[in-house]
Amino acid sequence: MSQVPAFAVISGAQVHDAVAGREAEVTRMVEAAYRLHGEGQTVNPDSYFLRFPDRPADRIIALPASVKGDVGVHGIKWISSFPGNVANGVPRASAVLILNDAETGYPFACLESSIISAARTAASAALAAAALADARGDRPRRIGFVGVGLIARYIHTYLAGNGFTFDELGIHDLSREHAEGFKGYLERSEKGEITIHESAESLIRASDLVVFATVAGEPHVTDPAWFTHNPLVLHVSLRDLSPEIVLSSYNVVDDVEHCMKANTSPHLAEQQTGHRDFVAGTLYDVLTGATTPPADKPVVFSPFGLGVLDLAVARYVYDQVASSGALHTVPDFFHDLKRYG
Ligand SMILES: NC(=O)c1ccc[n+]([C@@H]2O[C@H](COP(=O)([O-])OP(=O)(O)OC[C@H]3O[C@@H](n4cnc5c(N)ncnc54)[C@H](O)[C@@H]3O)[C@@H](O)[C@H]2O)c1
Repeated sequence: MSQVPAFAVISGAQVHDAVAGREAEVTRMVEAAYRLHGEGQTVNPDSYFLRFPDRPADRIIALPASVKGDVGVHGIKWISSFPGNVANGVPRASAVLILNDAETGYPFACLESSIISAARTAASAALAAAALADARGDRPRRIGFVGVGLIARYIHTYLAGNGFTFDELGIHDLSREHAEGFKGYLERSEKGEITIHESAESLIRASDLVVFATVAGEPHVTDPAWFTHNPLVLHVSLRDLSPEIVLSSYNVVDDVEHCMKANTSPHLAEQQTGHRDFVAGTLYDVLTGATTPPADKPVVFSPFGLGVLDLAVARYVYDQVASSGALHTVPDFFHDLKRYG
């Protein structure tokens, strides 16, 4: 494109309509983005964390990225995490994403992105669960969720949308109210037995697939003995597990360089040992068969969260909205375009 593009604004309602019920398709988009990343068809610099000395729990993260191939865009996600919002009935995370045209660099869309972010995170978790479980030869039927906010709900939806079914579902959350709310959500679609666990230990010991989606800032699960039944662990919140647990597990990450930052559990393990030999490989390595997860060790997937995944899902949403004729553009957004007036 060598012309100045129109600038579109895509609302959360439009994003929701574009992805809801299309979990398998969104997961395929995310898998394609992982493959492009693994093949060197992306640029995904470090995320930038804006933090506030007077509000240490809060942050806003910038994730710039570029993807070639069918995605074919540059862009950036700008996502806030203010955990205190939840007590006031406001979601923790809020976000926008800007898509830039690959040829001219012009931004051509601004999308509500908390749903895109949750969807890509959940699609990535479901993709990893399927790839790792299938490589180990068995799909888990007992799942446990530690921390049950929006991300846990999306991960459950994406697991179900990718063919996972469960006989037993466990819930553990520091907030009883959140645990009860999530139980109510699960009861609307699940036939299996649903149990609220008072401790993380009891939930982990009763689960073959464990999902961490807390807002813990440092490890609160420290005993490798809780994992001797070798569960598959989706460590989406990244800071729940002690270095000892990381070191006694088979570790898969989304991107090694990204994951060894910001005091994630793998980063703590690296700081403790002075090496990163405990990382078996990336999800791309699992997808291509370059590494095979064992059945006789806990398997932990720690995804730092790549901007390229957000771009892939945002591009998908943009195309859906555009082809349905519902794109809202802002007239004259770009102005004063003649070089000499
Ligand atoms: N890796 C990624 O790509 C990625 C992407 C998006 C979100 N996340 C992470 O997912 C996490 C969850 O996000 P959310 O929007 O669902 O948050 P949320 O605030 O809506 O929910 C978090 C829940 O965890 C519970 N909790 C906190 N500490 C706990 C603990 N120690 N044990 C048990 N429960 C605990 C809280 O009570 C709350 O119900 C965040 O840490 C976020 O940063 C990761």
